[in-house]
Amino acid sequence: MSSSNIKCPVCHSCHVPVHSSGANNEVQAATCVHCGHFFKFRAVGPYKSTISFTVNGQSYTVGPEYSPGSALNGFLRDQRISVGTKHMCYQGGCGTCLVEAKLFEPISEQRLSYAVNSCLVPLYSCDGWDIRTVDYIGNLRKGLHPIQKQIASYNGSQCGYCTPGQVMNMFALTEYYGTGLTKKQVEDSFDGVICRCTGYRPILDAFKDMAIPHNRPTSCQTAIDDIEDLRSRKCPKTNSTCSGTCKKTNMFDGQQLTHLVFADSQWFKPTSEKDVTSIIENNKGKKIMFLLGNTAKGVYGDLGPDNYDVVMLTYIFIGVYGDLGPDNYDVVMDLTGFREMYSISFDTDIIFGAGLTFTHLVDILTRVSQEQAYFGECADLLKRVANLPVRNRGTWAGNLCMIHKHNDFPSDVFVLMHVLKARIWTGFMGDSIDIKDFLNTDITGKLILAFDFTDLDEDTTEVIKFYKISQRNQNDHAYVTGGFRMKFDKTDRFLVTEPPVIVYTGLGAHFHSATKTETYLNGKNLSDANVLKTAISMLSSEIIVDSSPVLSSVKYRHDLAVALFYKFVLHVAGDQAGMKYRTGSTQLYLDRPISSGQQSYDTNKLEWPVTEPLQKLEANAQACGEAEYVDDIPSQPGQLEAAFVLSTVGNATLTSIDATEALKLPGVVKVITAKDIPGVNNWNFSDQYPEEVLAGDKILYCGQPVAIVLAEDYGTALGAVYAVKVTYSDIQPPILTIDDAIKSQSFFPKPCEDKNVGEADTAIANSPMKINGTISMGTQYHFHMETQSSVCIPTEDGLKVYTGTQWIDLSQYAIANVTGLKKNSISIEVRRLGGAYGAKITRNSWIAAACGLSAYLVNRPVKLRLTLGDNMKMMGKRFPYKAQYQIGFTEAGQLNGIKLQYYGDCGCNPGDAAFSIMELWADNAYMCPNWSISCTAVKTNLPSNTAARSPGSLPAIFIMESMMEHVAKTINKDPLDIRMMNMFTDTQVDPLTQMMLTNCELKPQIALLQANAEYNDRKQKVVTFNQNNRWKKKGISLVPLKFGIDWTGVHYGCQVCIYWNDGTVAISHGGIEVGQGINTKVAQVCAYELGISMEMIKVLPTNSLVSANSITTGGSITSENCCAGVIECCKTLIARMKPVKDKMSDPTWVKLVNKCYDEGIDLNARFWTNPVQKTPFQYYSYGATIAEVDFDVLTGEHQLTRVDLLFDCGESTNPALDVGQVEGAFVMGLGYWLTEQCRYDPDTGALLTNSTWEYKPPSSKDIPVDFRVNFVKKNPNPRGVLGAKACGEPPMCMSCSALFALKRAIESARHDAGVENFFPLHGPATVEACQQLCLNDPSQYVLI
Ligand SMILES: Cc1cc2nc3c(=O)[nH]c(=O)nc-3n(C[C@H](O)[C@H](O)[C@H](O)COP(=O)(O)OP(=O)(O)OC[C@H]3O[C@@H](n4cnc5c(N)ncnc54)[C@H](O)[C@@H]3O)c2cc1C
Ligand code: FES
Ligand code: FES
Repeated sequence: MSSSNIKCPVCHSCHVPVHSSGANNEVQAATCVHCGHFFKFRAVGPYKSTISFTVNGQSYTVGPEYSPGSALNGFLRDQRISVGTKHMCYQGGCGTCLVEAKLFEPISEQRLSYAVNSCLVPLYSCDGWDIRTVDYIGNLRKGLHPIQKQIASYNGSQCGYCTPGQVMNMFALTEYYGTGLTKKQVEDSFDGVICRCTGYRPILDAFKDMAIPHNRPTSCQTAIDDIEDLRSRKCPKTNSTCSGTCKKTNMFDGQQLTHLVFADSQWFKPTSEKDVTSIIENNKGKKIMFLLGNTAKGVYGDLGPDNYDVVMLTYIFIGVYGDLGPDNYDVVMDLTGFREMYSISFDTDIIFGAGLTFTHLVDILTRVSQEQAYFGECADLLKRVANLPVRNRGTWAGNLCMIHKHNDFPSDVFVLMHVLKARIWTGFMGDSIDIKDFLNTDITGKLILAFDFTDLDEDTTEVIKFYKISQRNQNDHAYVTGGFRMKFDKTDRFLVTEPPVIVYTGLGAHFHSATKTETYLNGKNLSDANVLKTAISMLSSEIIVDSSPVLSSVKYRHDLAVALFYKFVLHVAGDQAGMKYRTGSTQLYLDRPISSGQQSYDTNKLEWPVTEPLQKLEANAQACGEAEYVDDIPSQPGQLEAAFVLSTVGNATLTSIDATEALKLPGVVKVITAKDIPGVNNWNFSDQYPEEVLAGDKILYCGQPVAIVLAEDYGTALGAVYAVKVTYSDIQPPILTIDDAIKSQSFFPKPCEDKNVGEADTAIANSPMKINGTISMGTQYHFHMETQSSVCIPTEDGLKVYTGTQWIDLSQYAIANVTGLKKNSISIEVRRLGGAYGAKITRNSWIAAACGLSAYLVNRPVKLRLTLGDNMKMMGKRFPYKAQYQIGFTEAGQLNGIKLQYYGDCGCNPGDAAFSIMELWADNAYMCPNWSISCTAVKTNLPSNTAARSPGSLPAIFIMESMMEHVAKTINKDPLDIRMMNMFTDTQVDPLTQMMLTNCELKPQIALLQANAEYNDRKQKVVTFNQNNRWKKKGISLVPLKFGIDWTGVHYGCQVCIYWNDGTVAISHGGIEVGQGINTKVAQVCAYELGISMEMIKVLPTNSLVSANSITTGGSITSENCCAGVIECCKTLIARMKPVKDKMSDPTWVKLVNKCYDEGIDLNARFWTNPVQKTPFQYYSYGATIAEVDFDVLTGEHQLTRVDLLFDCGESTNPALDVGQVEGAFVMGLGYWLTEQCRYDPDTGALLTNSTWEYKPPSSKDIPVDFRVNFVKKNPNPRGVLGAKACGEPPMCMSCSALFALKRAIESARHDAGVENFFPLHGPATVEACQQLCLNDPSQYVLI
């Protein structure tokens, strides 16, 4: 028995008797925590019943007062030690929660810095850690850290929610590598922090500019001793070479066992074999968790210290759900204090301890890769596991346990182990399991100590190779990972001299090793065409793929598995393969160079600060984590936390809600249902299409809120949700797609008039060429990093509300309507949003209404913050569209007439649809005299879809561009020729808007772009490359843009207030700072108009008094209109001050202000913007994009190698911010067109892609390798504000150029496959879609 593992003699439960830090041989007494029996005992060894660590230099000692599953993140935020440390997904997938931890390295005996996900780190595993957070390394008072200054000055923060994570990732890197940090290492290390706003370029630039250019570090610490040292040491125990850590006196020596006892479980941190053995022995039959990195819980809830199969997200919060019940682990054994876990041995057999993290392994393998290339192959695969912060903590052993428990887990480690023919060592008795038998061996209660494998013989030809294909380039699980190993005699026609290894994960739980093909290939000559043919056919028939609604199709994964084998064979054959086939062995991701960007724009110094590329006003605060978001607002006394109960079926009648069990849970205060609503159960303006706060009787989609749980803390609220019993009747199959809806004729009433211009039918009928087709595109989750949140506080006036809304007026109405309060009782303040992109235009008012309702009913402050999962399930997303078209055109390709039928999937409510304006964007940049456009509002059992950056314009423009492609293909012309032939020219009248196009310089601008980007030359090279390469292709496209900006119904309240005494100025305006830099721009125009410096100006949070009745922030037009409002305020103020000034002789600003004050001048001006727009659009902006891709025909992967984007921003008010908008929008568009996909359970309609594990917005290596953004020069906009044009949305519509570049590459592959016909490339053009369109025929998988 362990010294601290004291058993109650009556009930036999184990616990620590007293709070002690090292009692030894003492007689002690305890009251049993379970049965209350009082007993005496003698401890026979030292133990510790607390853990200690430091955060920001402050020591903390923690006993078992929190739950074993409590995460560091909760501790930091709840104790307000660091609210700069953010949180979002709790899955290790977003990186907002990163902190730096200095961890003791058992091998090199030093403390090294790592970025770690504080959401995954259990508080109790922080024993001995030294942690630093973003708000400590630098802040607004003591000054910013150089890293914080750098990201701020490079405009690497927009909404700022990811910025603390980016900073801490870089901070830990610089601490780890010191001055040896290279640009390449920076580029490779930002796979773990998602930024939805910036498009990453400025973040990467900022940090790469702090690194040295070399490819190899000049000097740095590493976690591992010198490899040569490791190779020469012999372990006294095993007589093999080892790290020698056993002999060292290090931090582990003399350490006591740590033992904490919780209500239902125990936490041990043993430091010796004896302790480990006795804990296992004493807890036989109990559920033991061997804890290393605790990262598995980011994937599977059931693998964390608290089992949260049921309540996936609750366990992260402090003080709750440690006691969720019998399913909890009984014993958690933190193995990070046990030195034997870190053994390393290089001999004939190579041994790696189970505690080695991925970062450790990559480091070791990279260093030995110069001796044996296969080590480098292994390192390359491991670098693609998860993301850097997860790799910093996660271990191979934990990974293997995941696939052991979930056989379908796409474990990269399992593939690696198979290829290395590893043996897994368990327990201390020398037991080992061959990796081939691992999944079939019971490992319950067994401790994995190490794995070993035999080094490859350097003299023979043996090749090892891994391929991992996933939805996104990095930080993504594989669709399929393939591992191959083959020993062959090159001189004997590649005679395979041993059975090879062909292993996969991702195909499902039932197939991993291609044993038949392995057996067949042994003794065969691989270069014999028949052998390869037979092997491929055998492999093809032996592969079994399990279907999964959340993964790519069975066919794709099957085809991929075969193609990967062929890829490997091409790799083996090397220069023996035909020239045309060789590039089939390519691995685009590994070949990706360091990315770079160029930006060019005008600035007019005479107008500064207007047109000056200034840093965002809030950038410094964001960089040091001091920028406050709703969730950061300190808790009010008595504050409750709220969580929604969501429906679990998608089309049914709600029968009953029983909250009895939930209300019994300690801490649960109230469960609210629709019946409790005192006002109207509709949070939206529309009476025609009301939106219920809580479902009344009809369930319209899976994920619809049916109740709200209020509890004393967040975890309790989230957990109690699952105790609310909801029953349904009349459950019908949900309609989930546009096609299904068309079949069922599930439509809303016609949303807008048809748009008829000219005689489309006649024009098409009379045209020599006629085509018809369909094109469709999917949805997109906004992926705002700050989830929908609201805090409502009852006051004597009614409610004080802090909410993350883009539209205060609607939120105010929503709360009033639902509670029955009057609008003037609701006071709302919004400082900033952590990302929005349209998601918070209407949808946040729902959250505000629910939160306000809750606060009103219990008369206590309430916070409602959605978890990522709930946010994704409950909230509508971008509208998916499908278009059916008919086009009539001349033989040369001139457009005569177009008939269009748009189908837009509104989800369950069409309130946020934008059909009528979509019709105006339908032609993009092309003149077609005859149009007939009709829109159908499709009704599905999905949440009510809503605006998402460029709603309406994005699909309309893509549909038009797809039609142009179809026309070109039909007459076998280059699509660019057809585009140019039909392109609008200056002074032409756009038939759809009847607006004359002024300053429409599309054609000359495109000519300029083509020349600067060497388009013609590059295009020719692409053609030549494609002719010479069968399996790797290139594609290049040029897509123009004409984008109408609409000011209809735009009104914002603006107020500028000058303070006497110091002359400083405060502004409040009706726009919401969502990251676009609106506050900076209004300050710039204010400084310019008043003739004062920017430092004199502050922009205060938007509030419902100054901005009463203001319209939403959206459509790209808020910044310019708020600037207009501020200009008017300034003009008023200047006019009021003028008579005073005229009486003074050249006064300073402050003197003038004070004199005005003395003379009773009102220094507070207000303006209400209400522009009168006489045409459908206020103005047009133009642009064009050239995109070039590399494409892997065998896998469907691509690399966006270069993008040249020319955009018309007028005379940009702040080109640095506007470039940020352009790049961010473009990259968000790349996600939409290439990687982001929602999948639903066909039976219930539940969103399956509801986590960072399955939903993939672009990551830092999905951006163009070479990204050049140019603004059209000398180009003021006469119909804009101060000559500027909007830039938040139009560039999003330019991103489809990447999809069309891919289309060119796919066309070439289809040509090689003998298929020439037109095909539509729908969005998203995922790896699966692209590969399947290539129509690869395995009979073409040849070497020569
Ligand atoms: C965001 C994210 C992305 C990921 N991407 C990938 C990916 O692309 N490819 C991939 O293959 N994996 C991926 N993973 C999984 C990741 O590799 C694992 O989470 C990690 O390897 C688990 O190691 P750990 O030390 O954190 O295990 P823990 O979470 O500490 O433990 C996991 C399980 O293993 C058991 N266990 C741990 N150590 C031992 C031991 N020594 N003996 C016996 N049992 C033990 C535990 O009891 C527990 O049941 C990803 C994970 C995350 C969070
Ligand atoms: S909250 Fe930690 S990674 Fe997302
Ligand atoms: S600035 Fe990165 S998510 Fe907004």
